[in-house]
Amino acid sequence: MEQRYHRIGFIAFGQRGQQLAETLIQHLPEYGCPAAIADLRERPVVSPLFSFRCPEIPCFTDYRRVLEMPEIDTVVISTYEDTHLQIVKDAIEAGKAVYCEKPVVPNLEQAEELYRFVTSRDCRFQIGLNLPNFPVALKLKELLRSGTIGRIVMIRSACDVGQNFARAFLINKFSCRRGSFLTAKLTHDTDLLQHLADSYAETVWGTGDNFLWRRHGEAPMTDDTAVIAGVLHNGAMFTQTLTSCGSSYERNLEIFGTKGELRAEVHGSEIELCFSNGQRERIPAPNLSGGGHNGADLVTLRDFLDYVDSGERKPRWPERILSSVMIPMAALEKRLVETGRWYRSIIEGNENGQ
Ligand SMILES: NC(=O)c1ccc[n+]([C@@H]2O[C@H](COP(=O)([O-])OP(=O)(O)OC[C@H]3O[C@@H](n4cnc5c(N)ncnc54)[C@H](O)[C@@H]3O)[C@@H](O)[C@H]2O)c1
Repeated sequence: MEQRYHRIGFIAFGQRGQQLAETLIQHLPEYGCPAAIADLRERPVVSPLFSFRCPEIPCFTDYRRVLEMPEIDTVVISTYEDTHLQIVKDAIEAGKAVYCEKPVVPNLEQAEELYRFVTSRDCRFQIGLNLPNFPVALKLKELLRSGTIGRIVMIRSACDVGQNFARAFLINKFSCRRGSFLTAKLTHDTDLLQHLADSYAETVWGTGDNFLWRRHGEAPMTDDTAVIAGVLHNGAMFTQTLTSCGSSYERNLEIFGTKGELRAEVHGSEIELCFSNGQRERIPAPNLSGGGHNGADLVTLRDFLDYVDSGERKPRWPERILSSVMIPMAALEKRLVETGRWYRSIIEGNENGQ
């Protein structure tokens, strides 16, 4: 692998774009630097760190200007999901490597279109799904791979964002023109769940409601709470819940296997391994990296840039375009959905998904 110094264009420079740019500046300066910004806001307010390190960075309101810059080899897209499909297509056609934030698309039709687009040409593409790179998630995957708890029987996954987060983010962001809070959050959790199980959802039932978060006198713009249940292709069962009405921001996972059980809070730094004979063990999963999201942003971005340097010209994990959105979107439909049939009909080109 021949490593290069990357000039990176940031398409959208809101909270997420700036967080990733700062991760690059602070933790990966040998990998590259922010080299251009495109944001609908003419003068996005940036942090002192960013303005100090990138005082002369070109800023545009039209992302196509960034794509025209030959020195830019890579773009980070963190606009909202309703714009991703067109921007990803334009960026790939301009020959750029693409890192695109989640939720990658707002609906299943666009998921299929994007999947077909990236898999039908030479390109570098990855979704910014960073939850599997949290230290606890990395350790869980290692334990599952080595068969510590045998075959997975059931996964219970609970995402509680807490009232403080909900008040600050849910009303401010989702009362405007954003998509659904359920897809914004649960693309992360259900992507992790399928990743840990090494499978994908076959059948899903879910529902959601808004109990608390809306502007006075107005109808809710998005659900704030959801419950989802399903069966994975490998036969394991799962539940995924989300509530915005609790006291803290936590993601609790319990994975039941034929030989034992793993329990963890994904933002924490240890895993509990339990056996039916009462034996219990605490397995450390410390965060050894700096940067946002328990070090996962650094690991995810570094790994993406290594992939760009590897010379491989195939999209990375394109099936996650489909699997990361299909579970929360099934819950939005509030009925039983055969996600596996849809997934296979696209991946295997089999119309009936049998
Ligand atoms: N992976 C993660 O952990 C993580 C964390 C936070 C946010 N996100 C994702 O990042 C995305 C953005 O979230 P955010 O918190 O930065 O939102 P934000 O509201 O802070 O910023 C969005 C920015 O996009 C800009 N924008 C919108 N359309 C544009 C266009 N066509 N061209 C250029 N700029 C455009 C807006 O002007 C704004 O500055 C969301 O999809 C969100 O789900 C991911």
